[in-house]
Amino acid sequence: MTWQPNSWRSFPICQVPEYPDATRLQAVEEMLASRPPLVFAGEAQSLQQRLGAVANGEAFLLQGGDCAESFAEFSANNIRDSFKVLLQMAVVLTYGASMPVVKIGRMAGQFAKPRSSPTEVIDGVELPSYRGDMINGMDFNPDERIPDPRRLLRVYEQSSSTLNLLRAFAQGGLADLTKVHSWVTDFLKDTPQTQRFEALAERIEESLNFMKACGITPENARPLAETELYTSHEALLLGYEQALTRRDTITEEQGWYATSAHMVWIGDRTRQPDGAHIEYMRGISNPIGLKCGPSLDPDELVRLIEILNPDNIAGRLTLIARMGADKVRTGLPPLLKAVQKSGAKVVWCCDPMHGNTVKASSGYKTRRVNDVMAEVTGFFDAHDEVGTYPGGVHFEMTGQNVTECVGGVVDVTEASLGDRYHTHCDPRLNGAQALELAFLLADLLKRRRGERSILSEAV
Ligand code: PEP
Ligand code: CO
Repeated sequence: MTWQPNSWRSFPICQVPEYPDATRLQAVEEMLASRPPLVFAGEAQSLQQRLGAVANGEAFLLQGGDCAESFAEFSANNIRDSFKVLLQMAVVLTYGASMPVVKIGRMAGQFAKPRSSPTEVIDGVELPSYRGDMINGMDFNPDERIPDPRRLLRVYEQSSSTLNLLRAFAQGGLADLTKVHSWVTDFLKDTPQTQRFEALAERIEESLNFMKACGITPENARPLAETELYTSHEALLLGYEQALTRRDTITEEQGWYATSAHMVWIGDRTRQPDGAHIEYMRGISNPIGLKCGPSLDPDELVRLIEILNPDNIAGRLTLIARMGADKVRTGLPPLLKAVQKSGAKVVWCCDPMHGNTVKASSGYKTRRVNDVMAEVTGFFDAHDEVGTYPGGVHFEMTGQNVTECVGGVVDVTEASLGDRYHTHCDPRLNGAQALELAFLLADLLKRRRGERSILSEAV
């Protein structure tokens, strides 16, 4: 069937907000359609190549950032600190995996949220659910919860300045490996993770000094001085995505690209094979992700892969498993085997967040760092069992010192959740918890290579 950027409109769709003023929505979408793209096709193609290396077991994927970006939390410091934590994690993983780490932020566009219920009831009052700053407001009052199309323009603007700053950080000096010590944010100083990180940073410094003596410096070897950070978000609001879908006129491919981010993914609630989201995603040429939750049947997964990646291009499709710590060891192997048997080239990535959300007795939505770690370990074990490659991880994290997930070496307790609980949707790992995860992963990667623990070495 022929595909067009708007062909999804004639398919059944889930998770759509009801805009009271359709004319205004259309006017905003038309304005967006005349705005410049945020990313360009050549960049999406480079990311696909990098992910192709992951699919072949030659690189590792690190994807992370906010559950939901927000207008309120938008600041240069927040962007910088998330970027620094991603860099720290990446350097720990590069060391553990001894291979390139492909870095993708859930940043510069991650503003729309699927919800398990269309309405929310507080003290007997029922209002439409908050669906992310792209759609309506988080405050529990009727006006805020009405979907407002002007928010799309604000998302476009915030995404474009976030992306601008990320590009500046990636290429303008902050990512320079000789500055590895400066990536430690103030609140992380003196934590056990940071001591481990500093030990690793010293080794990197020693290697850099050796390389400098050999004549290799950040001035003459650009990979030491800069990094690549790609952007991604869930392509939930298809009107916005369609407005930013452009034909590639620069490279020879001539395909259609989502230019709202380098990579976009399909959520676990919108992956119906004959639904609108799959229809939209099959036609764009970007690398794409597909969330795979515990309700996904192996045959259906194979069918989805055929629809989404008919030419079996390595790097085109990343399967993001989010089973839950208690289900990963039984639920994941059948999916791994079905994909293996089909011969499909995919990246398998572990999202240990979305299957592990629980309600604390205080009422806060939280996740236990132990469950997150258990799912990551179970993901690696499942791949060992089937003989497939655990290619990456997908986290909800922030560089800020929040108290949203419980546990970790710097113990966040249920009682302290209220201290700094700032998320606009799901609970995120704070900088210290994220770094702790990176060390666990480095160990798991070393285990695969039959090497000694990075923890015992670096402490
Ligand atoms: C998310 O990644 O924020 C999300 C909603 O995930 P999932 O679709 O896997 O539930
Ligand atoms: Co989330």
